[in-house]
Amino acid sequence: MMMMGDLFRWRRRTLLSLLFTSTLGSFTSARPEPISKNPAHSLMPRSSNETFPYRDASLCIDDRVDDLLHRMTIEEKAGQLFHLQMQMGPNGTLDLGNVTARRNSSENMIGEKLMTHFNLVGDVTDVRVAAEWYNRIQERALQTRLGIPITLSSDPRHAFTENIGTGFAANQFSQWPESLGLAALRDAEIVQKFAEIAREEYMAIGIRTALHPQIDLVTEPRWARIGNTMGEDANLTSELVVAYLKGFQGEELGTHSVSTITKHFPGGGPMENGEDSHLTYGKNQTYPGHNLEYHLIPFKAAIAAGARQIMPYYSRPIGTEYDEVGFSFNKGIITDLLRGELGFEGIVCSDWGLITDTVIAGQDMPARAWGVEYLSELQRAAMVLNAGVDQFGGEQRPELIVELVNTGVIPEERLDVSVRRLLREKFTLGLFDNPFVDVEAAVQVVGNPYFRRIGNETQRKAYTLLTNNDDTLPLESDSTTKYYVEGIEASHLEARNISLVSTPEEADLALIRLQAPYEPRPGGFEKNYHAGSLEYNATEKVRQAAIYSAVPTIVDIYLDRPAAIPEIAESAKVLLANFGAGPDAFLDVIFGVDGAQPQGKLPFDLPRSMAAVEASKEDVPFDTENPVFRFGHGLRYAEAC
Ligand SMILES: *[C@@H]1O[C@H](CO)[C@@H](O)[C@H](O)[C@H]1NC(C)=O
Ligand SMILES: *[C@@H]1O[C@H](CO)[C@@H](O)[C@H](O)[C@H]1NC(C)=O
Ligand SMILES: *[C@@H]1O[C@H](CO)[C@@H](O)[C@H](O)[C@H]1NC(C)=O
Ligand SMILES: *[C@@H]1O[C@H](CO)[C@@H](O)[C@H](O)[C@H]1NC(C)=O
Ligand SMILES: *[C@@H]1O[C@H](CO)[C@@H](O)[C@H](O)[C@H]1NC(C)=O
Ligand SMILES: *[C@@H]1O[C@H](CO)[C@@H](O)[C@H](O)[C@H]1NC(C)=O
Ligand SMILES: *[C@@H]1O[C@H](CO)[C@@H](O)[C@H](O)[C@H]1NC(C)=O
Ligand SMILES: *[C@@H]1O[C@H](CO)[C@@H](O)[C@H](O)[C@H]1NC(C)=O
Ligand SMILES: *[C@@H]1O[C@H](CO)[C@@H](O)[C@H](O)[C@H]1NC(C)=O
Repeated sequence: MMMMGDLFRWRRRTLLSLLFTSTLGSFTSARPEPISKNPAHSLMPRSSNETFPYRDASLCIDDRVDDLLHRMTIEEKAGQLFHLQMQMGPNGTLDLGNVTARRNSSENMIGEKLMTHFNLVGDVTDVRVAAEWYNRIQERALQTRLGIPITLSSDPRHAFTENIGTGFAANQFSQWPESLGLAALRDAEIVQKFAEIAREEYMAIGIRTALHPQIDLVTEPRWARIGNTMGEDANLTSELVVAYLKGFQGEELGTHSVSTITKHFPGGGPMENGEDSHLTYGKNQTYPGHNLEYHLIPFKAAIAAGARQIMPYYSRPIGTEYDEVGFSFNKGIITDLLRGELGFEGIVCSDWGLITDTVIAGQDMPARAWGVEYLSELQRAAMVLNAGVDQFGGEQRPELIVELVNTGVIPEERLDVSVRRLLREKFTLGLFDNPFVDVEAAVQVVGNPYFRRIGNETQRKAYTLLTNNDDTLPLESDSTTKYYVEGIEASHLEARNISLVSTPEEADLALIRLQAPYEPRPGGFEKNYHAGSLEYNATEKVRQAAIYSAVPTIVDIYLDRPAAIPEIAESAKVLLANFGAGPDAFLDVIFGVDGAQPQGKLPFDLPRSMAAVEASKEDVPFDTENPVFRFGHGLRYAEAC
């Protein structure tokens, strides 16, 4: 047995010195050396299984995968097929679980269920703690019979979204606009830059799989998941996803890479009535315009660019040639279309929770087995495997797989096909050769001033200027101007000596930061999904109108969905849109601090009314009647004389 002290020394000596400079494109992370060439090798745990061929970094990956696969029991193979949320325990300890929250312990998942794929849930508020926790789960994985390392994944964590089902706010990471904001800049270089920086920060704390990019096309403006897409246009999304994948994965997947899960196949945009298929009433995806092909365009680009993993959406297709069952249950979609027609050879990981009913954030969430609700859990699992899916997201049911094999329903060779793909990913990422991160390096890398500065600048640039009557922007900073302000904490205003008044009537100018309209829904989980009308309600329209008629107003609206706001375009002095920006970014943009100015172009049409939204087809882009602003609209500040 190795001593703990040895393990820590080994880690320190394999420190990846991460070099980053302020020149775009020139930061690189040193690659961890294969263990057999590493002078610290003698400090690795030495047990009989250390000499197995799969541990030998000098062998080729296919041979290592074969060797390991042949040593695995059915239980060990079944464990690989599950990818579940995991959270840290206090101070970076292993989570002990919580029966009330229906959460098993990390020990149960790693030690008993033999799972090795987890997505980190919860905010990273302390980098050191996160990196130490990551090393602890790898230590625990090393102690299993075969010592298969863990692959840690994550939903996006570089913007503002805070929703246990879709993403976590940046906290210690550099903070950027949502991917819609990157799309507004229409600049593949910025997208790649973002992805390279996110990769460095992820890798520093051990996150080696991104549960993104999300390349669903915004053809139905009511859908709650638009904020993490790249907009309405298939070509733009195609161009940007290529840069995105290159930034996370590199030219080829390797020890320097974060693998990506591109989602949601075959495009989650065309939701019936704009509802979301996490929820029972949103299970249908519809194609009244017979336009499925349009939604495949970015997936074709991603596959050509080397997308490693793809996630099908929860929805079931209505009115197509395919069966009306959820996409991961759908052999026509996964085996015939994705693998056959589009030639995808990578990993297919289902969306979270297709088999087992559960509770999320206190809300009962039935399994998302849309169209096959009547099947037993066992039958659902078999159907997903038979459709051609490799991995079950958000589930921990290896015993179902073992039963399917033991009863002859699923041949063991079928498991081997998927386990092989999953193990190859781990070997290629170098996880067998060095599963640990260097804690000190992580503290240096994550949220360093250079990464934060580029993220901050991008928040400013992604601002999209929709109206600027009388060239109101940029504002002069003038200590005599009196402002009426909503949606910004006073401390940000005080820091700039902005003089405040408490009513629009007393003010010279109003600054209003708004959230795009939505209809609140009940339920701990559901409430995070902004759905329903894209217009403000009558009371809110009246309230806002009173401000606009009292004082020239600068409106800044956060567009997580394409709002229908003709009245603001008409009545406010200035209308700015953001896709994730902090209050300082907003203030810098309106005052033109250090030359900050909006450079974004709308990544979708802004509809005129809910009537127009309802009249347009869920699967067809750019078919909203008489939009207030078109895709691509975005003004610039006038040149100074
Ligand atoms: C947290 O863990 C670190 C070592 O990993 C230890 O030094 C520190 O005392 C712990 N803090 C608390 C509050 O337990
Ligand atoms: C377990 O989870 C429940 C529900 O989320 C929570 O109220 C409770 O405080 C948790 N218990 C512990 C010991 O963390
Ligand atoms: C933990 O896992 C076991 C199976 O190993 C399962 O029976 C149990 O319901 C799980 N408990 C929780 C709280 O999720
Ligand atoms: C491999 O090594 C671990 C840790 O030393 C040990 O627990 C396990 O039983 C070994 N497995 C085999 C197959 O020898
Ligand atoms: C998308 O690209 C294709 C091929 O380059 C081109 O024919 C088509 O007009 C483009 N569509 C748009 C909306 O730009
Ligand atoms: C979904 O589509 C089916 C088939 O057209 C229809 O019967 C059902 O009412 C639709 N809505 C939901 C929520 O299932
Ligand atoms: C980035 O913006 C945040 C929020 O305004 C600020 O606290 C931080 O100092 C900025 N960092 C850099 C390096 O510009
Ligand atoms: C705010 O006003 C104070 C006092 O007049 C002055 O010292 C300070 O420099 C001003 N700060 C800014 C950001 O203008
Ligand atoms: C109208 O919208 C406002 C703000 O969006 C909200 O606070 C209010 O509860 C809504 N009123 C009704 C009647 O829905």
